[in-house]
Amino acid sequence: MKVLIVYYSTYGNVFSMARLVEEGVREVQGAEPVLRRVPELMPQSIVDSNPDMKAGRDAQKDVALVTMDDFKDAGAIAFGTPTRFGNVSAQLKNQIDQLSGLWLQGSFETKPAGVFVSTGSLHGGQETTALTLMAPLLHLGFVLVGVPYSVKELFTTTGGGSPYGPGHIAGPDGKRAVDAEEAAVCRAFGRRLAEVGLKLQNR
Ligand SMILES: Cc1cc2nc3c(=O)[nH]c(=O)nc-3n(C[C@H](O)[C@H](O)[C@H](O)COP(=O)(O)O)c2cc1C
Repeated sequence: MKVLIVYYSTYGNVFSMARLVEEGVREVQGAEPVLRRVPELMPQSIVDSNPDMKAGRDAQKDVALVTMDDFKDAGAIAFGTPTRFGNVSAQLKNQIDQLSGLWLQGSFETKPAGVFVSTGSLHGGQETTALTLMAPLLHLGFVLVGVPYSVKELFTTTGGGSPYGPGHIAGPDGKRAVDAEEAAVCRAFGRRLAEVGLKLQNR
């Protein structure tokens, strides 16, 4: 079963999280991670003029853009986004808004999905972003999957990560690396999404 990990990342933090979710998926027998990014909407001149944005884009150049077939073929889907003013990035939302054809076919109604988020600051919108991103996923028919408290790092994390999904605090300069607890939550989320997807396929 394919597990699609589809994300947007300007500076690379959500990309790092996506690769950790990918590691978790890979740990589950019968699950195959498919890592994909969504198209950039910012003009290329803006990205080119900012060294940090340029480095983020270059780091992801080998990740393919997501296709409708990726969404169709996946048995489970993880959606990753940076927080933008307390909410999902326009780039990821733009991709979600193109899913109405598959929505009309009921393609997602037996598939689990979940979300992961990176913010600049601790109280900058981790939970609002995760929860607001869940609304369109419910409309699309997905069965939502979060992170249960049996993942012990949820109790101890001083960065991101909550029952709503993995989280990461990138810091004011966007350069704080994903720490060990945030990484553990990302991997646990990938495992859980894959396990639930396999169970729903065998219903
Ligand atoms: C336009 C814009 C809006 C942002 N809004 C927020 C915000 O509301 N709260 C917050 O904590 N961080 C905010 N940030 C910071 C990013 O969410 C944060 O740096 C994130 O980790 C970047 O992820 P990336 O490296 O994958 O692009 C914002 C950044 C930008 C560029």
